[in-house]
Amino acid sequence: MSLYEALGGEKVLASLIRSFYHQVYHDSLLRPLFPDDRRRVEQAQLSFLTQLTGGPRNLNQEPTSLAMIHRLLPIRREHAVRWLALMEKASIETIANEEARLQLMERLQIGAMNVLRVCEAHQMN
Ligand code: HEM
Repeated sequence: MSLYEALGGEKVLASLIRSFYHQVYHDSLLRPLFPDDRRRVEQAQLSFLTQLTGGPRNLNQEPTSLAMIHRLLPIRREHAVRWLALMEKASIETIANEEARLQLMERLQIGAMNVLRVCEAHQMN
């Protein structure tokens, strides 16, 4: 079984994302980084997490690179720490399968550290 299925498929990922961005868009540290079009960000995230967890493939869709998406954003360590804390909270609220939840969080921690590394490297230039 893929991680996507273990998590509960599209229904669970969609509630995870809704809960996560609800918090992000009410968070004074993260909100200023994000565009007003929350719907577009949520759609892109659903499609990204579907790919990441081995869900159904959309053939029209280019594989997305986290480095490309984020490299020009002024992301610092405190942003990455907050991003992960809000994702942890949203995941506890929406994902019942604890083993699958921990696997997802592990991948997102690695992703967040990669984003941070790319952004910090860019900020030094
Ligand atoms: C390190 C903490 C992170 C911060 C502060 C952050 C911040 C942001 C911001 C501000 C945007 C909006 C960019 C824009 O359209 O103007 C964005 C988009 C996005 N982020 Fe992150 N991000 C982080 C980590 C991650 C991780 C770990 C993932 C992987 C799951 C991720 C996936 C995405 C996706 C899929 C988009 C949408 C890209 C698109 O518009 O097509 N981000 N992020």
